[in-house]
Amino acid sequence: MNEAEFIWMNGDIVRWEDARVHVLSHALHYGSGVFEGIRAYETERGTAVFRHQDHLARLQRSGELYHIDLPFTLEKLREATHELIRRNNLRSCYIRPIAFRGYGEMGLFPLNTPVDVVIAVWPWGAYLGEEGQKHGIRVKVASWRRMSGDSFIPQAKACGQYLNSILAKVESAKAGYDEAIMLDVHGHVSEGSGENVFVVRDGAIFTPNASCSILDGVTARSVKQIAADLGFEVAERHISRGELYQADEVFLTGTAAEIVPVREVDDIPLGPPGELTQAIQKRFFEAIKGQREEYLEWLDFVDMGDPAPRAADERVVS
Ligand SMILES: Cc1ncc(COP(=O)(O)O)c(C=O)c1O
Repeated sequence: MNEAEFIWMNGDIVRWEDARVHVLSHALHYGSGVFEGIRAYETERGTAVFRHQDHLARLQRSGELYHIDLPFTLEKLREATHELIRRNNLRSCYIRPIAFRGYGEMGLFPLNTPVDVVIAVWPWGAYLGEEGQKHGIRVKVASWRRMSGDSFIPQAKACGQYLNSILAKVESAKAGYDEAIMLDVHGHVSEGSGENVFVVRDGAIFTPNASCSILDGVTARSVKQIAADLGFEVAERHISRGELYQADEVFLTGTAAEIVPVREVDDIPLGPPGELTQAIQKRFFEAIKGQREEYLEWLDFVDMGDPAPRAADERVVS
């Protein structure tokens, strides 16, 4: 793990090694937490958090869906993230806010247990590798189905739900693939273990619709906007497993992975990254680097100021 120096915990900035929780924290036992994955990029105009408000709004919504009310306003969390990036002096980083049931009571009824909020930031390169981002990855359709909306809330980014993704991820890795794509319980393509899926066929772009147990990805939303700006409409519809095999291009999107071409599905070659994938990738990378005016509203610029702690403002709890 690429450690940074400080972590924000319940309003204080603490040293990385001091950011600890009790072993009887509720979330550790029952998965009762919600989180986000966000990235900050170095741009020509300074460090900027990509679609910060959208991610924080999803964090709040995920919490509401699982009865976890955030004890901080979104603006406070936004400011805390800026401060943390500044204090860690990171020009670009991955950002992980998490709100979880902490230490208080055991048992499944969670509402008497306090909600802790932590934000961590650290340098994290391409999640599926730089090679993969450039030349494409090999994916396996998992034997595990993406959780059904009858049992969980797939639209929420909730801790315990990731056991589902982990089963698919481990299965694909053990079989020698880079990533898994899960089908939903009805057999439609749903999503990767931590990414949304896009399919290109005959110049048309498809992605699973909201009824396919997907997380409403912030990167996917950006890709839909970019595709529209490039003159392509993205159709949201059911996609069958066979359509992955017949596709001209398939790519995955996510904050950690960014945009990753798929070059093989279940050992069926799709070829090198296609034209459309590359055009969308190029526009996306220009957007996150602040090189295109039309997407500047996606960037939340951080005032990096003076990274050294000031005596009057010393809040490090050691
Ligand atoms: C299960 C799952 N689906 C999709 C995504 C992509 O979402 P986003 O683009 O908002 O990161 C993620 C990552 O957050 C994820 O964990």
